[in-house]
Amino acid sequence: MTSGSKPDPLPTASHRVSLSNGTDFDVGPGQTLLQAALAAGLDWPNGCRVGLCGSCRCRVTGGKIRALTDFADVISPQDLAQGHVLACRCQLQGPISVQSDHLFDGLTPDEADIDATVTRVKRITPLVMQLDVLLDRPQPRGYSGGQYARLEIPGAVPARCFSFAGACRGDGRLRFFVRIFPGGRLGEWLTDADRVGERLRVSRPLGHFVLRDPIRPALFFAGGTGLAPVLAMLEELASRPAMEQPPVRVVFAARDQQHLFHRHFLEPVVDRWAFGTPIDFISVLSREPRPSSWKGLRGYFYDHLPTLTTGFEQADVYLCGPPGLVDAMQLYLLKQGFDKTRLSADRFLPSF
Ligand SMILES: Cc1cc2nc3c(=O)[nH]c(=O)nc-3n(C[C@H](O)[C@H](O)[C@H](O)COP(=O)(O)OP(=O)(O)OC[C@H]3O[C@@H](n4cnc5c(N)ncnc54)[C@H](O)[C@@H]3O)c2cc1C
Ligand code: FES
Repeated sequence: MTSGSKPDPLPTASHRVSLSNGTDFDVGPGQTLLQAALAAGLDWPNGCRVGLCGSCRCRVTGGKIRALTDFADVISPQDLAQGHVLACRCQLQGPISVQSDHLFDGLTPDEADIDATVTRVKRITPLVMQLDVLLDRPQPRGYSGGQYARLEIPGAVPARCFSFAGACRGDGRLRFFVRIFPGGRLGEWLTDADRVGERLRVSRPLGHFVLRDPIRPALFFAGGTGLAPVLAMLEELASRPAMEQPPVRVVFAARDQQHLFHRHFLEPVVDRWAFGTPIDFISVLSREPRPSSWKGLRGYFYDHLPTLTTGFEQADVYLCGPPGLVDAMQLYLLKQGFDKTRLSADRFLPSF
């Protein structure tokens, strides 16, 4: 199919993939091309596994695939026309041929996953766990605030994406905020036993949701654990010289006061901020009971857009958290006249 057109019917049979290097493997009806390649023992490159990073892309030279998402955010129109696809987001409608030149050139040793140990697990709201880990060796090139890693608990939880919840200190100490979903494998693993001392695997830093250059006034909208990349970016800004610290507003969405956890993590950053350019915090609660002690805003971000954006009309805008919230905000901000090229978004999509 053409990416972006009406989805084709769900595949109902296994189909064969023939790589140009002579390797063959089968893709089952519910599998993505990437899942099948990994299950077949191939060292297929991958990063996010949800269609964001482009690491798994390949060129289909014959046959029909079913795209699970629009590839156009990651693959240029010219490359799409030549059959480039994201292996993590396509299933097969029949046998296909794939150009495999350079596909398996391999990761450099620097890009390999790093083993790590859980050093702390703490519940910070009824639905969010703080997970601290220590890498066996620090990431060779560090990471930029806003990036994420794939975390895997070998033998227990397959790889999932989580944003670094703090700037890179280069000492191998990392923090993540993990939202608990009913039936969520990582959430359950974290909560059903004491996990301090357990081993896990952390990927190289991934993603392009990072501070724009040059630094300008910045407006951050975070929902729930979407605070993680914002915290990392703010810590990064706080470590810059005072002259380079822009005016910043952070708007945080939570369901009620029990789920507000940003202050505890953001206040130490504010203390390091330059005098005269304070960070402005606003929280918006969607399900705070009435009556209650809450004096702040109620509802959703988009119910209060003029209040939340005043003074930041020319700012760089960073949106992160659940996909529904990010998409809705993007739409409302564009309608309000915000410049599309100044909006950056990080959608916390479920893992496959
Ligand atoms: C780039 C990126 C960065 C991310 N950063 C974070 C982060 O910092 N913190 C964080 O908590 N999450 C983050 N996520 C989302 C996280 O990777 C997924 O939610 C992941 O599936 C959770 O794993 P789990 O093992 O807890 O649940 P799973 O076992 O994967 O899922 C269990 C159940 O919960 C549902 N579910 C899982 N995730 C979601 C979701 N996001 N929305 C709706 N339903 C869901 C599933 O459909 C399933 O029914 C990020 C995702 C991406 C793509
Ligand atoms: S692994 Fe497929 S796009 Fe990231």
